[in-house]
Amino acid sequence: MDRYAAFARSGLGRRLVPGLGLPDPVPLRRDAPGAPLAPGPVLVTGLVPPDGAPLVGDAAGVAAAELAAAGARVVGPDGAGGDATAGAAGAVAGDERWGGLVVDATAAASPADLVGLVGACTPHLRRLARGAHVVVLGLDPDRLPAGSPAAVRVAQRALEGFTRSLGKEVGGGRTVQLVLLAEGGVGAMGSTLRFLLSGRSAFVSGQVVRVGAPVHDLPSGEDARGPRPLAGRRAVVTGAARGIGAAVAQLLGARGAHVVCVDVPAAAGDLAATARAVGGEPLVLDITSDLAPGRLAEACERLGGVDVVVHNAGITRDRRLRNMRPDAFAAVLDVNVGAPLRLTEHLLGAGLLGRGGRVVGVSSLAGIAGNDGQTSYAASKAGVIGLVDALAPRAAAAGTTVNAVAPGFIETRMTATVPPLTRQLGRRLASLGQGGLPVDVAEAIAWFAEPATAGVHGQVLRVCGQSLLGA
Ligand SMILES: NC(=O)c1ccc[n+]([C@@H]2O[C@H](COP(=O)([O-])OP(=O)(O)OC[C@H]3O[C@@H](n4cnc5c(N)ncnc54)[C@H](O)[C@@H]3O)[C@@H](O)[C@H]2O)c1
Repeated sequence: MDRYAAFARSGLGRRLVPGLGLPDPVPLRRDAPGAPLAPGPVLVTGLVPPDGAPLVGDAAGVAAAELAAAGARVVGPDGAGGDATAGAAGAVAGDERWGGLVVDATAAASPADLVGLVGACTPHLRRLARGAHVVVLGLDPDRLPAGSPAAVRVAQRALEGFTRSLGKEVGGGRTVQLVLLAEGGVGAMGSTLRFLLSGRSAFVSGQVVRVGAPVHDLPSGEDARGPRPLAGRRAVVTGAARGIGAAVAQLLGARGAHVVCVDVPAAAGDLAATARAVGGEPLVLDITSDLAPGRLAEACERLGGVDVVVHNAGITRDRRLRNMRPDAFAAVLDVNVGAPLRLTEHLLGAGLLGRGGRVVGVSSLAGIAGNDGQTSYAASKAGVIGLVDALAPRAAAAGTTVNAVAPGFIETRMTATVPPLTRQLGRRLASLGQGGLPVDVAEAIAWFAEPATAGVHGQVLRVCGQSLLGA
């Protein structure tokens, strides 16, 4: 816990923080072995559909069934509580609170329909448990069926402002996300709902996730919902010796993957320790070297192919542009985006990444918002978003998804070197009022890596506690 967070939790802090309107960084509800999906029953509710069949199918019904199958106590259309919109508040006992809220807004067909969100949400907000997560389901306004009325697109686009604002007001470590469904997305949204309702997404808030038709067949329910959804998967994680990369390797290993841990020769000692701890194997390799694509391909061939590639290795050489040396600028671009592009194209071209494959890049809020003194880093991290845009369509045709995470302020050795005032600001600019942990980024990457997340591709997920930067 950082010093301000410790103060906010002290006796004096608890009295001062709310009155002065200061950020209140409550401890987040992170996942733990055996922890329930949500800290209480999950209410599935929504707008009353107008006449006619819903455009993407029964999103609320499927959400309720998916969450119930994942062990959540669901109150909703198909859950124990019957009709959620009518009197659901009475379906929880005494002072029990909602551990999650899913609001199906796919029926909103005009701006006026959005008023229904008040009826669907408002009665339940005061009963949300600390650390409860809210998910609003909508239609992807960019992928509506041809000929959809303009009013549908307007209403569905409006949900983004609604959810982002709600994320800023819920407090108490609660989060709010918008899941936008395209054709084929309802049947593919299970892993996304499990991620967003659980403590695995503790540091993700105010985000939009688009789910469409899966790029390959989905795994069976039990395989997908169990504690080891990555069993049998072969993964490569670059920059795995420490920080976020070590957390990613650890989590992918714990979820069942065999992990090839890559890092530079100077980090060989730490790399070996990470690989040993996760039951994987070390590969000492500078990803920018000319030999890197071939050596990585050989390592993958020995395993019979690769399923998950996480391009986590990254460096900074921060200086204002007026003081910048070309070699420093070049190094940042090459490690952070040049090498990931070469390696991904090589693995795809060699047929080592195919059906069920996952490529996950690591961008940054700096790549979205820009940052004083970080022209090289921000360019490289915006380039990672370009890599996702450029490769996702081709990869999807081969059954591979390409996505990226964009971490905000994460407590690592990299951010420990940031000047103290900037560090405090980085933490407090988030709605959740704190920095994230490496495991928060790792959880988002592990969700992208799951075989059941086949309907999410070409996307960048911010893991930033809903930071104001670039939002
Ligand atoms: N920490 C944050 O707040 C934050 C925020 C946004 C994005 N990120 C990104 O997350 C990733 C990990 O960050 P971190 O904070 O854990 O950094 P870190 O500096 O602690 O770890 C980076 C790792 O990458 C390795 N690496 C560097 N160059 C390499 C090369 N050429 N070949 C192989 N490995 C190489 C390093 O040796 C190191 O082990 C980076 O891409 C970073 O830009 C971090």
